Amino acid sequence: MAASASWTSLKPSTSSGQVSWLRHRPLSAAFGVTNLSLGRHRDQPRRFIVLSMDAKPTILVAEKLGEAGVNLLKEFTNVDCSYNLSAEELCTKISLCDALIVRSGTKVSREVFESSAGRLKVVGRAGVGIDNVDLAAATEHGCLVVNAPTANTVAAAEHGIALLTAMARNVAQADASVKAGKWQRNKYVGVSLVGKTLAVMGFGKVGSEVARRAKGLGMHVIAHDPYAAADHARAIGVELVSFDEAIASADFISLHMPLTAATSKILNDDTFAKMKKGSESLMLHVGAALDVFTEEPPAKDSKLVQNENVIATPHLGASTMEAQEGVAIEIAEAVVGALRGELAATAVNAPMVPAQVLTELKPYVALAEKLGRLAVQLVAAISDSGEIKVEGRVKDGIPHLTKVGSFEVDVSLEGSIILCRQVDQPGMIGKVGRILGEENINVSFMSVGRIAPRKQAVMAIGVDEEPSKQSLMRIGEIPAVEEFVYLKL
Ligand SMILES: NC(=O)c1ccc[n+]([C@@H]2O[C@H](COP(=O)([O-])OP(=O)(O)OC[C@H]3O[C@@H](n4cnc5c(N)ncnc54)[C@H](O)[C@@H]3O)[C@@H](O)[C@H]2O)c1
Repeated sequence: MAASASWTSLKPSTSSGQVSWLRHRPLSAAFGVTNLSLGRHRDQPRRFIVLSMDAKPTILVAEKLGEAGVNLLKEFTNVDCSYNLSAEELCTKISLCDALIVRSGTKVSREVFESSAGRLKVVGRAGVGIDNVDLAAATEHGCLVVNAPTANTVAAAEHGIALLTAMARNVAQADASVKAGKWQRNKYVGVSLVGKTLAVMGFGKVGSEVARRAKGLGMHVIAHDPYAAADHARAIGVELVSFDEAIASADFISLHMPLTAATSKILNDDTFAKMKKGSESLMLHVGAALDVFTEEPPAKDSKLVQNENVIATPHLGASTMEAQEGVAIEIAEAVVGALRGELAATAVNAPMVPAQVLTELKPYVALAEKLGRLAVQLVAAISDSGEIKVEGRVKDGIPHLTKVGSFEVDVSLEGSIILCRQVDQPGMIGKVGRILGEENINVSFMSVGRIAPRKQAVMAIGVDEEPSKQSLMRIGEIPAVEEFVYLKL
């Protein structure tokens, strides 16, 4: 598979023996980064590019984040932990930040993106729901939004099981009764879970983990999820069924799907009527055991919450020490990766890339990045029109340069490369190799692309160490070498 940077091909003028993309321009002048003036045409003005790739980005952490996550951020970025900012303060600060990390308590509104004036590149939500982030505004301003969807999965599933067992055995009600000075053993006779059917509605990350645990309790578990893979369900020993079958055959129902138009009020008068007689219903989002509310906290006089058969917890699904630290690390990794331009597996406003595909794509992303660096450096040096074509491919997982201008080469894009334009003649590889060898510079590869025997050629030499200025100058002094440049990738 080939990848190509989008520069128009500059064809060498073979009739004149000239190569237009190198004409009249000292290649080395392009690389202000190394500040070398080693080209053959010393009378030409030098141009310098300052590549500030090493500058650390600044991240504003606007809500408390687990220490492990903050430490990870500090390794790669400047971290500004400023909590409880007013909307105005956030808008003022954001213009100095490349990324922002929030939990659910900070509103990342359109004004925030407008105030950032294009500097804000990533918003990280330490958790799952992104209701507090204006996604449309983020996308319009070219800002990636990432979340941390996996670290609290087990915590949420364990809370689901806690609610299931508490509901089956009236734990919360009995506790309140004892604390009120009563001893009502007959009133709080529970039901056993073993052998009962649990319908898991939404067989995603949390639903699957609830199913595994429920099977450990000896329950018969079925699931309804139109998008779940049958293989995955089978592997856990769960049967995927239709919505109606799930509702009709369950003793307990556990909801683990996102709130969408299709799932909103999914349990209603009709569905309650279809439920097995005497079934308990366990709902993490709405129902008899609740953890998440449309309005948080719910009204004090809420009939639902006040109902004696309802157990309510204050959105505790993700609230374990372990999950908090896990979420902090997950969001820190996602934000740092996104700032580095890596593909984000947890992007919310960009196509999600599954982890497996991400692994396969990784070398291609590296190839595109390296070709881009190479092209940018070359184009600044050699082309008044701002055009040059470089091509590459991934071979055995390693990015390779396969074409520069019209010259075909085969160069592993690792470490640094010396590119020479020269007249094709015997002994060139030996001459350059000897100069580098004398300085103990290890050559990782050499590749020559040429128009025709004894005509124009491009020699690419990969080096593991950076050659000294003297060695590079000696290469430039070889008579057949017309121009050359040292490229750091
Ligand atoms: N209470 C908490 O603190 C807490 C913690 C973690 C997650 N959550 C919430 O739990 C829910 C599930 O989280 P997750 O991490 O498992 O998400 P997930 O995306 O892995 O799983 C959701 C599943 O719901 C399924 N689904 C979508 N529409 C459906 C429909 N109409 N009928 C049946 N299934 C449907 C999807 O196919 C998916 O498999 C989310 O809403 C999440 O916000 C709450």
